[in-house]
Amino acid sequence: MSISRRAFLLATGAVAGSAVLSACGSKGGDSASPSGEVEVFSWWTEGSESAGLQALLADLKINQPNIRFVNRAVAGGAGVNAKAELAKRLSQGNPPDSFQGHAGAELSDYIAAGQLEDLNALYEEQKWKDLFPKQLLPLISSEGKFYSVPVNIHRANMLWSNPSVLKAAGADPAPKTFASFLENLQKVKVAGGTIPLVLADAFTVKHLLETVMLSTLGPDDWTALWQPGADWRAPKVKEALENYHQVLTFTNVSSPAKSWDAASTLLGNGKAAYQIMGDWAEGSLKLTQGLQAHTDYEWAAVPGTAGSFQFLSDSFTLPKGAKHRDAALIWLKECGSKGGQLGFNGAKGSIPTLTNLTEDDRSLFGEYARWSMDEWKRCRIVGSLTHGVVANNAWNTAIDDAITSFLKRRQVSSFQSALVAAAQKHNR
Ligand code: GAL
Repeated sequence: MSISRRAFLLATGAVAGSAVLSACGSKGGDSASPSGEVEVFSWWTEGSESAGLQALLADLKINQPNIRFVNRAVAGGAGVNAKAELAKRLSQGNPPDSFQGHAGAELSDYIAAGQLEDLNALYEEQKWKDLFPKQLLPLISSEGKFYSVPVNIHRANMLWSNPSVLKAAGADPAPKTFASFLENLQKVKVAGGTIPLVLADAFTVKHLLETVMLSTLGPDDWTALWQPGADWRAPKVKEALENYHQVLTFTNVSSPAKSWDAASTLLGNGKAAYQIMGDWAEGSLKLTQGLQAHTDYEWAAVPGTAGSFQFLSDSFTLPKGAKHRDAALIWLKECGSKGGQLGFNGAKGSIPTLTNLTEDDRSLFGEYARWSMDEWKRCRIVGSLTHGVVANNAWNTAIDDAITSFLKRRQVSSFQSALVAAAQKHNR
């Protein structure tokens, strides 16, 4: 069995961990292999997030048995708490050895602040320029230099549903348009007893907004909003915000679930009908909750967004001043390796960034991930807001504030004005 196959089986729980590690002849105790610790900062603490991280670490252990991984994950979906903690450490000149950052505008902040080392030597050595998707390269580089190693591609515009709950209500798992989605939510509401569309903490509320905006605006207008001079006063933006206003009435926004993972659990155990969440929810439904695709849960693109793949990519960096630089480079190499990516993505719900997967590699993944790999190739690729692709941290924070006020006042016109002001300040 190849190492990548073993790591994958380990990650997805198909084989008990100890059996796999001993079967693969781990190099444990090999004094010639590099040693030392590497402190890695992320926000992967929930369900499929920690399972994915553990899978990556299992493969690291196989390849580099003497590297000690120091896990500095800070809980909070989408990195809400981790990013604040990271900013503090960076400003104190005390960076971790590597930290998670989203490809796109979020990473550009760290590059512009001069906080990262470039990774061109590693890119050359690993031939990653030829192996990572062409669309991703501009989002992890600046002026010909690469600054992070992308470990996955997630899709944000996904609708998850519970088939039994929908059947009882006569509702559709894959409404084609936003209007028909609202009709289906109404059916679930009338049937009673469940949350029609389940939400959790603040990032899930923004995640819902970005998907409703994509649904209403379409991929061209959504993408244009993040370009300098974009028209945030446009009637279409207003229509999107009105749709958002309406869809919120079918949610538990006033008493949300504790985390996105807790919300996925409510969906899995029949207490909620639909969830709009990135496909890390698949990792949780399938592996953490042990549910069966199609029988226990169903998926579709968010209504009105079929044909668009609203993506995000988790990537890891090498901060300037990292205390364990050599070990950090070993960790980064692992993030871009096939063994690491197969195991990690198999548990996380995302798809690898490596484009050299064989049919054999592909066959290791479940039906959802294989479909997502095809969708990535055939869909129009657009960026996620909540997960750092289209707007940097400061713009995201301004949008968070606009959402918080909107949830209190529920006035679409002042919500739109706040978004216009945020764009005027941050869209450069
Ligand atoms: C995203 C991240 C994903 C997942 C999600 C929920 O920002 O890219 O990997 O962890 O947050 O926390």
